[in-house]
Amino acid sequence: MPNLRPLIDELPGSKIREVANAAIGRSDVLAFWFGESDETTPPFIRDAAVRSINAGETFYSHNLGLAELRDAIADYVGSLHPGVGSDRIAVTSSGVSALMLAMQSLVGAGDEVVAVVPVWPNLTAQPAILGAHVRRFALRPGSDGEWRLDVEGLRKAVSDRTRVLLVNSPSNPTGWTLCRDEQRVLLEHCRTTGTWIVADEVYERIYFGAADQGTKCAPSFLDIADPDDRLVVVHSFSKSFLMTGWRLGWLVVPPGAAPSFAKLIEFNTSCAPVFVQRAGLAALEQAASFVPGLVERLRQCRDTLVPRLREISGVQVATPKGGLYAFFRAPGSDDSLAFAKRLVQDAGLGIAPGAAFGPEGEGWLRWCFASREPARLVAGAERLAAFLAL
Ligand SMILES: Cc1ncc(COP(=O)(O)O)c(C=O)c1O
Repeated sequence: MPNLRPLIDELPGSKIREVANAAIGRSDVLAFWFGESDETTPPFIRDAAVRSINAGETFYSHNLGLAELRDAIADYVGSLHPGVGSDRIAVTSSGVSALMLAMQSLVGAGDEVVAVVPVWPNLTAQPAILGAHVRRFALRPGSDGEWRLDVEGLRKAVSDRTRVLLVNSPSNPTGWTLCRDEQRVLLEHCRTTGTWIVADEVYERIYFGAADQGTKCAPSFLDIADPDDRLVVVHSFSKSFLMTGWRLGWLVVPPGAAPSFAKLIEFNTSCAPVFVQRAGLAALEQAASFVPGLVERLRQCRDTLVPRLREISGVQVATPKGGLYAFFRAPGSDDSLAFAKRLVQDAGLGIAPGAAFGPEGEGWLRWCFASREPARLVAGAERLAAFLAL
C-alpha cells in the first residue's frame, strides 16, 4: 500500500454504499437509501443547460461564478432573508464542495470543530481530512422519537478554543430543525468565544413548519446575523430543485471574504461548469412557482410514509419537521448496518443504516421519502412490516 496520509486511510467508508453494494445485480429492490428524489430535474432547468451547451458555453467562468447567477442568488436569498449583496455570494460545484471550501477557509491542523450530530458524515469527515479535531455534540432522541438539542450543553461545549461550530438544520438524517431562540443563544455565544458558525442550510426550503410560521423556509442564521458576524452559510441546488446530479451550490460569505474564496475555488475546481450555472439561473428564475409545489409533494410523501411506519408494531418514529428523511428505530435494528443488509437481502428494501451518521445514530434507520410515486413508499412500508413479522 503506498503511504497515503494516515488520516485518509483512517476515514470510514460509506456504510450507505455498503448496503447499496449488497443489492448489486438485483432489480427487485425498492431503494430509499440515498438522499435524493427519484424525480428527474424539471424540463425548464434541463432545457437551459442544453441551450447553453448548444450555444457553445463550454469554457471556464469567473471563480465565483457568472455575475448573472451571483445576482440571481443574492435576489433569491433576499426573497427569504434580509438581503445580502452579490459580493457575498460564491457559486460552488455542489453543496459538499461549498462545505469543503468553508472548512478549508477556516480550519487547519489541530483546530477544534464542534459538530452537532448525528449528521451526514461528510460534514465531520471534511474537517478531519484537514487535520482538525472534531468534537461531536449529540442531539438526543426523546421517547417520541424526536431529536432535541440541549442548547445549554452545546453552549458549554463551545469555548474560546473552538474555531468552528458546525450545524446542519434542517438535519440530515434526523429532521431536527433549530428554532429561532436556539439560534440566538448560539450566535450570541459564538460572538463571545470568537467561534465561526458554519451553517449547512441546504434543506432550508424543505421545512414543513414554514406555512404555520408564516415563512417560506426554516429559521436561518442569516435572519439574525449582522454582516460582521463570523458566519458562513452553505447552500445547494440539489434538494430544492431536484438537481442532485448537477453539482451546483453556493456560499454566503462575510463581506470582503469573496476574493479569498475565489482563490480557494481556483485551487479546488476553478469554477462550476457554465452550462450548469445556466441551469441554476433557470431554476432560480422559477423558484417562486416551482419550490412550493415540490415541498407540498414532499409533505405528501412524508405523510404517506410516517403513519405507515408508525402502524408497524415496535417501530418508533417522529414526524420530521424538515428534510427528506424519516429516521426511525425498529425491533432488531440495534446493529443498524447488519439490519439494513438483511432488509435488502431478505425483503428487497433499501434504506440507510443510522450508524452511517455516527455512533449516535446506531440503532436507527434512515428512509428517504422523496418519491415521485407515493405508492412506492406504501409498498416499501409493506415490505418492512412483512420482514418484521417473520
Ligand atoms: C446535510 C447536507 N449537506 C450538504 C449536502 C450536499 O449536497 P450536494 O453536494 O448534492 O449539493 C447534503 C447532501 O446530501 C446534505 O445532506
